[in-house]
Amino acid sequence: MTNLPQLTAIGTDLDQIADLSGYVVIFVPETGKLDQMARRVNRLTRGALGRFVESSDFSRLIEGEARALAYPSGLAAKAVIICRLAKRTKSNAARVAGAAVAVIAPAGPVTLLTGARRDIGEIALGFCLRSYAFTDHRSEKTGNDKSDTAPLAVTVMTPEPGEAEDQLAAAKPIAEGVFFTRDLVNEPANVLTTTEFEARLKDLTELGVKVEVLDERALAKLGMRTLLAVGEGSESPSSVVVMHWGGGGKEPPVALVGKGVVFDTGGISLKPPGGMEDMTMDMGGAGTVAGVMKTLALRKAKANVVGLVGLVENMPDGRAQRPGDVVRSMKGDTVEVINTDAEGRLVLCDVLWYAQDRFKPSALIDLATLTGAIVIALGNENAGVFSNNEGIAKWLLAAASAEGEGAWRMPLGAAYDKQLKSRIADVKNVGGRPAGAVTAAQFLQRFVKEETPWVHLDIAGVASRSSNSKMAPKGATGWGVLTLNRLISDRYEE
Ligand code: BES
Ligand code: MN
Ligand code: ZN
Repeated sequence: MTNLPQLTAIGTDLDQIADLSGYVVIFVPETGKLDQMARRVNRLTRGALGRFVESSDFSRLIEGEARALAYPSGLAAKAVIICRLAKRTKSNAARVAGAAVAVIAPAGPVTLLTGARRDIGEIALGFCLRSYAFTDHRSEKTGNDKSDTAPLAVTVMTPEPGEAEDQLAAAKPIAEGVFFTRDLVNEPANVLTTTEFEARLKDLTELGVKVEVLDERALAKLGMRTLLAVGEGSESPSSVVVMHWGGGGKEPPVALVGKGVVFDTGGISLKPPGGMEDMTMDMGGAGTVAGVMKTLALRKAKANVVGLVGLVENMPDGRAQRPGDVVRSMKGDTVEVINTDAEGRLVLCDVLWYAQDRFKPSALIDLATLTGAIVIALGNENAGVFSNNEGIAKWLLAAASAEGEGAWRMPLGAAYDKQLKSRIADVKNVGGRPAGAVTAAQFLQRFVKEETPWVHLDIAGVASRSSNSKMAPKGATGWGVLTLNRLISDRYEE
């Protein structure tokens, strides 16, 4: 498990600055104007800071970027980090700034000389998110690993430490949720089996989440045969885990549904070996649902939210489903399985139906690493957003934009649905190469009631990345935790 840095706030004490160890961070606006704390650093370093700020090295920094002056004379610190940031910014710039600092201060302690800034929580959140390092399987712990070393200590020096402490406390549940998602998504499939996933979700019970596991017998009884068919070839049992957060009143819940394929070999329609190891992240949708539930519980959200994840492993085996099989879904529609590698939709269609049947949700949002086609369409910058409802689609896009998580609306339409016509069953599970992400969404829409406001998020391109991004090191990003947490707090909380 990856732990957050330890965040604390202290009151202004200029005399302490010379003796601070580790990294001392100051924030300087484009104009180069130094605040009281920066002026103290400048005096201690005999004007080194001022010379930097007047140089082209500083004017070339873009908003939110940071540079280190290493081993400055006059300070005990290893480095002074200068971050270009306006006094008042949109929340995202402050987060980006915090993240930029985390990149150049990989070890602690770190002291942020923020002065009287109002965006301390945002800076700290950005720092936390970018300081994440998944080191559970390294013998030698490096980076921000706290499992056998002291947590990275981050201290904010400000004239109003009480107010800052409140902001830090509000940032923590959000970072915790993102870390939970990233840890799940980064975990290899021999560790994160379906049963291990269940166990980690059950830990949410301690936070007041009611966690219910539907095992294979229960799923068979409910008629979730398309889901069960996907897991037939695996030694790990399939399950659906239902997480209930009841922080609201009597109103119907928001339902979050996640694809939790702990490993996707493709099944009998076996994937080629190149890059198959990336399919450990095919439970990214379920991982995000889990992270959102954790954040909601930690911050005691005043909303009713149910998270449902379908946990399966898609393996080839003598008992695995075959191309050409016809399977009946919980809804009753029969599906011709043309390609066993289009398994995510077979899992989701049953969980989507179950979620509506049982909870009559006011909104239904699914997340899935569903198609390679969405990666071709949008790359790693944007998740694909599909919706049957203009209102909720707008809300979701607004939340994503406010959180700096890329999201782009994609079309749906009857013409695309035609590609799913089956010769012998009600529907087939693939629609051919053209518009592959859209036909996958069309397949799901057949299992969504017209009156249910629904959003499908295809996160195949954004859940995990092969290079570092602004807010995360390479690997799992936790995409969606921030967006869904905001969507719920903005639109569904009392
Ligand atoms: N899990 C994959 C989609 C995927 C691709 C996720 C790349 C992350 C990165 C999904 O189950 C899959 O295999 N989809 C097929 C569908 C096809 C057979 C219609 C695909 O996209 O190739
Ligand atoms: Mn697949
Ligand atoms: Zn898959």
